[in-house]
Amino acid sequence: MQTSPASIGKEESLSLGGHRHACHVMLHAETKAKLFGRTPIKHIVLMQMRFDGLLGFPGGLVEPSRETLEAGLCRELQEELGTAVPITPRDHVASCPAPSCPDLITHFYVKKMEESEIKEVERAAVTMATDHGLEVMGMVRVPLYFLKHGGGLPSFLSHSFISSSRSQLLSALQQFGLLSPRELEEAVTQADQLRQ
Ligand code: GTP
Ligand code: MN
Ligand code: MN
Ligand code: MN
Ligand code: MN
Ligand code: MN
Repeated sequence: MQTSPASIGKEESLSLGGHRHACHVMLHAETKAKLFGRTPIKHIVLMQMRFDGLLGFPGGLVEPSRETLEAGLCRELQEELGTAVPITPRDHVASCPAPSCPDLITHFYVKKMEESEIKEVERAAVTMATDHGLEVMGMVRVPLYFLKHGGGLPSFLSHSFISSSRSQLLSALQQFGLLSPRELEEAVTQADQLRQ
């Protein structure tokens, strides 16, 4: 497994002066859908294709002097997803200095939804979001299955990701039991081979 940057406490990070803060969230839902009628999709996990061509999670910069982290994240989700997705402090998973930008603290949240709710988020992201086609080129679902020749999760992981979003994805998939450690290891190994 890829190592994630050292995490720090959320409150501790907010007490540091001179730092910018960004909050992003992984929205996910269980599904019984099957690809080609046989390969279980298992979970819907949302990421986005950003304006810069990199994959990342919905969310953005927040202003802790004016808003709580969760309120700032909700504001960003309204802009990028076109709908209010309530986020609470209980959805917080980790806060870390950004690897190549130590004055930026990135706060990560994970929220489980119903399949019908996540489908509504996907619809709103196209029809209602002011950032659609601007900062956000589109929402994407993460394929969690394995097909021939690295298809599925390995191919997805071989793309380019913003900041630490790739390791946020991998650790959340493990922490919330969406994939087993063995499956994640295999996906990363195959992705590395595809990238060579
Ligand atoms: P503006 O409205 O243009 O300011 O963008 P934004 O507020 O939506 O900010 P953005 O989502 O780009 O996040 C701000 C910074 O956080 C980025 O410049 C990246 O360095 C970093 N970042 C963006 N997405 C992610 C993500 O999914 N995970 C992590 N760890 N960092 C991210
Ligand atoms: Mn077809
Ligand atoms: Mn934004
Ligand atoms: Mn953003
Ligand atoms: Mn913003
Ligand atoms: Mn913006």
